[in-house]
Amino acid sequence: MAAVTWRVVRRWCPSLPQVFRFPVAQVHLGRPKMRASQQDFENAVNQVKLLKKDPGNQVKLQLYALYKQATDGPCNVSKPGVFDLVNKAKWEAWNALGSLPKETARQNYVDLVSSLSPSSEASNQGKSGADVKVQESKDIVVTSEDGITKIMFNRPPKKNAITFQMYQDIILALKNASTDNSAITVFTGAGDYYCSGNDLTNFTSASGGMEKAAEGGAVLLREFVNSFIDFPKPLVAVVNGPAVGISVTLLGLFDAVYASDKATFHTPFSHLGQSPEACSSYTFPKIMGSAKATEMLLFGKKLTAREACAQGLVTEVFPDSTFKKEIWTRLKAYAKLPPNSMRISKQLIRKNEKEKLHAVNAEECSTLKERWLSEECINAIMSFLSRKSKL
Ligand code: COA
Repeated sequence: MAAVTWRVVRRWCPSLPQVFRFPVAQVHLGRPKMRASQQDFENAVNQVKLLKKDPGNQVKLQLYALYKQATDGPCNVSKPGVFDLVNKAKWEAWNALGSLPKETARQNYVDLVSSLSPSSEASNQGKSGADVKVQESKDIVVTSEDGITKIMFNRPPKKNAITFQMYQDIILALKNASTDNSAITVFTGAGDYYCSGNDLTNFTSASGGMEKAAEGGAVLLREFVNSFIDFPKPLVAVVNGPAVGISVTLLGLFDAVYASDKATFHTPFSHLGQSPEACSSYTFPKIMGSAKATEMLLFGKKLTAREACAQGLVTEVFPDSTFKKEIWTRLKAYAKLPPNSMRISKQLIRKNEKEKLHAVNAEECSTLKERWLSEECINAIMSFLSRKSKL
């Protein structure tokens, strides 16, 4: 990205003061709060004037973009000429926010400024080399470091099965990551599993009965998958162990998938009386051809990491003994690449598919809603829960 001087940014965004004189390594979003009021926003605008340290060009561009989005709405000015590097960088930052609602932009601006406040500056200092927590939730841990936002499934006793609450936490984490100052976003799992898929007790333990749970589940699933389809930055999966169900099908929406040789990939939908989700009914045949996709999605064939790599679902496989070291070294290097360039390239690669993916997602969710209420599905879930058989 073009170097942007603070003086020029300030000219575009008069609300930001000329107090940024020294570079700061990195700034992270604090714990998200919902619904900032206009007063919170104005306070944040004033708070920026009190900042003592320069948060760096990336953050200044973000502040600029969020401010414009919160006050003017989606980018409505024409793109500056190719040689007008500074204004082009700002235009790109604003334009990248797309149709983000004003209210959300206002909230993100307030969160970002709060993370820049003297107390946040102090708490972020001295933490270099350690992950900085940006979202706290027991079962999903979000940290940010070295230009990477890491979203980790953190429920090892249940093999990282995804509860309704975790779906919501991930939607929020992706929303925050799409506008934070990281270059790439990475999913991984704590413990020996990457993720065992949808928590099969989601429906049986829901209050209000199966029908209501299926209804709400379909709405939540659709929103969850949409947040992957629309995610603007490079999305990487670091598959540390076995992956089941939706944690596998989602991989078709990732930009790169790295796996330990201990990872396996299993989508036992027919065994559970269910049907594919996360656009896999479209992405899997496209990635691996329909014959191979059928074996996975209809017959529940479990693939080893090397088989998944040969089918094109996985980018590269590493020996488990060196997996973590090798992959994080590599990802840290990737995160240093110009972020706007990566984002724009991703957009070029993905944009022609988006509409199709949204349509596929909608259809898969409405099919699943029916499946969840089917006798085949209910029997399979009861059988798992009563441990008469395991997959
Ligand atoms: N939903 C709910 N609970 C799950 C789960 C899931 N998807 N996956 C694992 N768990 C729970 C188990 O019920 C068990 O809980 P418990 O200790 O209270 O009994 C705990 O996680 C450990 O799992 P366990 O089955 O004892 O470990 P395992 O190594 O023998 O088997 C799996 C691991 C993942 C193969 C097995 O648990 C399984 O088949 N889970 C279901 C996976 C699935 O079908 N996902 C949905 C796909 S659409």
